[in-house]
Amino acid sequence: AIDPQFHESREQVGEENGLAVWGPVDEPEELGIRGTHVAVDYDLCIADGACLEDCPVDVFEWVDTPGHPESERKAEPTHEAQCIDCMLCVDVCPVDAIDVDAG
Ligand code: SF4
Ligand code: F3S
Repeated sequence: AIDPQFHESREQVGEENGLAVWGPVDEPEELGIRGTHVAVDYDLCIADGACLEDCPVDVFEWVDTPGHPESERKAEPTHEAQCIDCMLCVDVCPVDAIDVDAG
């Protein structure tokens, strides 16, 4: 499962599409965690898609990640600022790849 303490245990190594990238990153096999309020561990995501289907405010968008061992696309929390903290995505992800910091 995603480490809910990732902002302390990992370092922010950059930004992509306006989202924080938390390392380590070694593309294409290791992609780190993306996002801060809504965070997705790309190294756990298997592209199940339940988060995209169930999020009531469409926070997530697919991004292509060719060459990643778990899946060739990931759910990016592109619109994390729209999140209403319903926690549905956290509940439905089969591999617990998502953390929402509801405070
Ligand atoms: Fe969407 Fe709810 Fe997850 Fe926020 S907590 S990203 S609103 S499903
Ligand atoms: Fe990935 Fe979990 Fe969503 S596997 S696509 S983060 S439901």
